[in-house]
Amino acid sequence: MVLQDHRDVKDQRVYAPIESNSKLSKVGPTLEDRMKQYRESVEQPSQYWARVAKQNFFWKTLWESDDSVFSFNFDKSKGPIDIKWFDGATTNICYNAVDRHIEEGKKDKVAFYWEGNDVGETSAVTYGQLHDEVSKLAYLLKTKYGVVKGTRVSIYLPMITLGPIAMLAVARLGAVASVVFGGFSAHSLSARIIDSESTVLITAEGTMRGDKPIQLKKIVDEALTDAEAQGVACKAIVFERHGRDGVPMKEGRDVWYQDEIAALPAEAASTPVEWVEAEHPLFLLYTSGSTGKPKGLEHTTGGYMVYAHTTFTTTFDYHDDDVYFCTGDIGWITGHTYATWGPLLAGSTSVLFEGVPTHPTPSRWWDIVDKFKVTQFYTAPTAIRALMKGGEAPVKKTSRASLRVLGSVGEPINVEAWNWYYNVVGEGHCDIVDTWWQTETGGHMITPLPGNTPLKPGSASLPFFGVQPALLDPTTLKEVEGAGEGLLVIKHSWPGQSRTIFKDAERFAQTYFPVDGYYMTGDGARRDADGYYWLTGRVDDVLNVSGHRLGTSEVECAVNTHPDVVESAVVGIPHDVKGEGIYVYVCFKEGVEITQKLLDSVKAIVRNEIGAIATPDAVHPANGLPKTRSGKIMRRILRKIAAGQLDELGDISTLADPSVVEELIALKAVWV
Ligand code: WT7
Repeated sequence: MVLQDHRDVKDQRVYAPIESNSKLSKVGPTLEDRMKQYRESVEQPSQYWARVAKQNFFWKTLWESDDSVFSFNFDKSKGPIDIKWFDGATTNICYNAVDRHIEEGKKDKVAFYWEGNDVGETSAVTYGQLHDEVSKLAYLLKTKYGVVKGTRVSIYLPMITLGPIAMLAVARLGAVASVVFGGFSAHSLSARIIDSESTVLITAEGTMRGDKPIQLKKIVDEALTDAEAQGVACKAIVFERHGRDGVPMKEGRDVWYQDEIAALPAEAASTPVEWVEAEHPLFLLYTSGSTGKPKGLEHTTGGYMVYAHTTFTTTFDYHDDDVYFCTGDIGWITGHTYATWGPLLAGSTSVLFEGVPTHPTPSRWWDIVDKFKVTQFYTAPTAIRALMKGGEAPVKKTSRASLRVLGSVGEPINVEAWNWYYNVVGEGHCDIVDTWWQTETGGHMITPLPGNTPLKPGSASLPFFGVQPALLDPTTLKEVEGAGEGLLVIKHSWPGQSRTIFKDAERFAQTYFPVDGYYMTGDGARRDADGYYWLTGRVDDVLNVSGHRLGTSEVECAVNTHPDVVESAVVGIPHDVKGEGIYVYVCFKEGVEITQKLLDSVKAIVRNEIGAIATPDAVHPANGLPKTRSGKIMRRILRKIAAGQLDELGDISTLADPSVVEELIALKAVWV
């Protein structure tokens, strides 16, 4: 299968919204309904967001005036970058996500249906139970670990209910969670613990991914030892997922979660919430950028809360008895906003799944959909493409009649995958919401709305309420008017926007506000005559591998730790399932014999340094890299060689040594 570029699709069908969804739609059935609300949201942003924020949340104290619920400066020439929403108000997001629902009579409503890796492992947690578990963990963190407002707590867990519980407990105390994806390596974990200076880590001893046991505690031990050696003493609370046999626990550092919780006094179940300022930090989430070091994006409480809830309820057109299922892991922003905060703030029932879509059979997701009568399902194009390979039969075996809305996130969805999602999974009775957004944006930015927005496969369609996108011409940096293509920027702040990079405001300003007055997304986009946006991919050195974000230099740093490597260069190549694959050029030290084993060891070192998601798809030995006379690596040429587009190399005369190109091509013929 070859990924289609949407611009090659001549026969562009437009799909009218599903009629039954139009009847339900809270925004209204016509695009004019959406545009009317959109116009209000951008013409009177303060009044618009003040109204939304008052309607749906509890604030301990309110902001001063509805005429100015935000202030922001996107222009470095006018002073430091600064973004504030609902400043002066106080609230607590855990209170809004749990306690409030109980007060409103939802104590026995299921918050999470949990489905384990293996069929038969299943449980349900009500809002009442959630409250007790969160309170107890908050009590433990507070009394035993001294966690207070602002303390950073790292979380490294599989997809079990303890994930959201831990996020809630940390927020209950006004502390700051840093969730680290459970597939990351010890090195990645320790780097995040060290940068965030976490004093506690909430983790589990292990998990299963399909047939494969994963011993998380081993990774944790390595990471904590490393962190300690670098001056960050972090303790571990370890959840017993499968058993304690053979799991080493370090005296004075590690405890079992179950033992600690069982030993708490009765009052632990009613730990009060800490009221915090709207701009108090809520969480850090590390993500890749164009330099080697991942950046800890900081989100704050009030604005994120309002944006997570509003986008969740609107984009999925959430109604009270819906059952929602997001396959995203809590280690990513999708799992933060749309597996945890959005659904809980809405008081919804959602499904949390620990396993993989193909275990024990490729029908697993659809079996879960049928089991819980899921109404909204949210996943990534890479997963759709992987399942497409298995054909229609595993899908057709199941009913999926409960589904109304199918969401897509993480990368542009190619037209073939869109059609399969729409016709095979949705059987033509579900709207697809292709949601464009980023870790930095906190929530959806460009997305169709179910029952409302006509769909064009491959387009994320129109901006969400309050979002003001623009396209900049890459050469003049002036705004492109009407239909056209350019760098996607946002002109006005929105409540869910990340406020800074932890301990690095300067990097935040340089990375996201290089052009005064605009938030730079790092993506390119095209806008068509109907105002629909078509995302064309990253314009910086960031790769999108299976919807996961990786910096080319981050991978290069990992490769360069190999003892036989002199230097390396990483580029993306088209990949039929992952969307983008990782292609590594490596210059080895003189005298090193190039063998398959050596190339495999390069793959292994990256996997070890970062995690399995970063495993290179190809390693290409090189005698030299194509560089300009000033020493800059010409990635454009490397991308073309990797993709086999040798007739599109372009001008190579500006290279310091043009002969390296021929050598690279010759070496490719032998090794890749
Ligand atoms: C990058 C952000 C947003 C949660 C998951 C990824 C790409 C994301 C789409 C989409 C086209 C998309 C962009 C963006 N991206 N969603 N629907 N269509 N591209 O979050 O790791 O912060 O990555 O993912 O390139 O910049 P992330």
